[in-house]
Amino acid sequence: PDDGYRLWMRYPDRTIAPDAVTVRGRSAMLDAAAAELRRGLPAGFGPVLLATATDPAVQALRLPSEGPEGYVVRRATVDGRPTLVVTGDSERGVLYGAFALLRQVAVNGAAAPINLRSRPRIALRVLDHWDNLDGVVERGYAGKSLWDWWTLPDYKDPRYTDYARANAAIGINGAVLNNVNAKAESLTAPYIAKAAALADIFRPYGIKVYLSARFSAPIELGGLKTADPRDPAVARWWRAKADEIYRAIPDFGGFLVKANSEGQPGPRDYGATHADGANMLAAAVKPHGGIVMWRAFVYADTDPDDRAKQAYDEFKPLDGRFADNVVVQVKNGAIDFQPREPFHPLFGAMPKTPLMIEFQITKEYLGFATHLAYLAPLFAETLDAETGTAPGATVARVVDGSLEGHTLTGMAGVANIGDSRDWTGSPFNQANWYAFGRLAWDPGLTPEAIAREWTAQTFGRDPEVMRTVTAMLMRSREAVVDYTGALGLAHLMATGHHYGPGPWVSELKRPEWNPVYYHRADRNGIGFDRTRTGSNAVAQYAPALAAKLADPRTTPEGELLWFHHLSWDYRLASGQTLWETLARRYDRGVATVAAMRREWEGLRGQVDPQRWAKTATFLAVQEREARWWRDASLAYWMSVNRRPLPAGMAPPA
Ligand code: GCU
Repeated sequence: PDDGYRLWMRYPDRTIAPDAVTVRGRSAMLDAAAAELRRGLPAGFGPVLLATATDPAVQALRLPSEGPEGYVVRRATVDGRPTLVVTGDSERGVLYGAFALLRQVAVNGAAAPINLRSRPRIALRVLDHWDNLDGVVERGYAGKSLWDWWTLPDYKDPRYTDYARANAAIGINGAVLNNVNAKAESLTAPYIAKAAALADIFRPYGIKVYLSARFSAPIELGGLKTADPRDPAVARWWRAKADEIYRAIPDFGGFLVKANSEGQPGPRDYGATHADGANMLAAAVKPHGGIVMWRAFVYADTDPDDRAKQAYDEFKPLDGRFADNVVVQVKNGAIDFQPREPFHPLFGAMPKTPLMIEFQITKEYLGFATHLAYLAPLFAETLDAETGTAPGATVARVVDGSLEGHTLTGMAGVANIGDSRDWTGSPFNQANWYAFGRLAWDPGLTPEAIAREWTAQTFGRDPEVMRTVTAMLMRSREAVVDYTGALGLAHLMATGHHYGPGPWVSELKRPEWNPVYYHRADRNGIGFDRTRTGSNAVAQYAPALAAKLADPRTTPEGELLWFHHLSWDYRLASGQTLWETLARRYDRGVATVAAMRREWEGLRGQVDPQRWAKTATFLAVQEREARWWRDASLAYWMSVNRRPLPAGMAPPA
């Protein structure tokens, strides 16, 4: 039986002769790279040499440099023998080169010509685990936490190594081990020892460990009366804590902080700013080379006017005030990981501050683990968005530092990983972990190219399987947008767990918890007016873009109701009314899922039975629930707008 455990590392049964792989130099990282090739290259594969560029044999080849993490994989003659050389300026480059070679062989076959070189465009490629110390994963749908805090640090589950291998294969080089809604306890000596054990396992695979820090820890753990970042005793406490962590984990990455958001403590509790808080922590890790990832996801009861404006309002004035080892971590959109959101207006608005982007790989708002939704198109849509500050000034170029001259650059993904056998709760969710890593390495890769790579490595190179699976992946996210609410609608889900429809919810305590706050539908129209006549959130974008977004005629159709409140009878470019288009999108979403289901049915017998059956079952669930979303949403909209369904559409069940 094939339970999907092997992810994108499905190596052949008959492998290369172990002595065909030679390593020059001794280190745990080079050994890990060599072991991976011995395990993954097919029998009969010719000699391979692994060495850094400092090795005399490699130096003699005069290969190009690909920087501190990049690699070159090339055929050459070494000691008179034709050899495949896997090299880089650093051991890390060699490691990534080894995995790139395995990918190349899996995707193109062992006989295809090999000539690879690449370097990452983004420095910090990080998974954020929202894992609680009791094993529950917040917004996790793939079982419990991988980290068994109870048996750590003594028992080193081999799965930790497989986790590190899977990440190294896609270039991920950091893991935040614990939830952003952090417990102070995660910074106590026993947990530092547990984190250190994981760091030891991950180190040969180039992965640094980070921890989420609870801002009030000096009070909870240190017995101080305050956590005010301007208080010298507080700063001293954090310095001592950082020193303690670095004694156990010399290459500890640093802290991730969620402050003054959704009830978390933070510097604002003391009238200090986010910069005060971030800089104080940054000073504590600075002597050790650590960094602070300070989240801009602030969500507190302070902007009743429009929740989407809050992060910009609080952070934009702080541009240039952060220490040089702070990076501000900004979600892709201004609300919260919806199936579609316009890019966050902070991108392009803080040129003096390194901004890392945060995506959600776990599908909190896209059907949890059961619905098939390939997220590379969502990630790429944000990365490719033009910020409007200059031609070609995309979000990707803000994030990779090239636009504003930053070297501290990063991309974070909220992990979808748990202890389920297939890691992510379904075989297809593995594609989202994979795509995140590949885009963090190179945000210029296309979702389609990544889909093809992933499919070949996950389901094999059979042309029909490749074609079908890639086509399913590529349509899947738009289908979710269609059946949950198209045209820029957002936050229509049920309360609390966020599963299934709830556009009618209106009675929750805070206004912006309610879906009605976002869609503002009534008898006459629907949508959130974020232009001058409304919250004027459009003014947070660069003037050129703001002007476009201020006019429904020049607003992208997919973001229309995000920015505008329009009549149900408003005519779109197609000539159809808004209501008719919205209604038909629900149908289109359901139809796409039904088609994906049929296509998967056609692969019966061509994919191993276990993964095939799980996917088939999940697609049936998804089709049923796409209908649920459609029918419940249409019935609600019709109760509000009192309009009939467009001609030919079947009434909601
Ligand atoms: C969302 C999510 C929370 C999470 C928060 C965050 O609101 O529902 O579970 O804590 O994002 O990103 O901090």
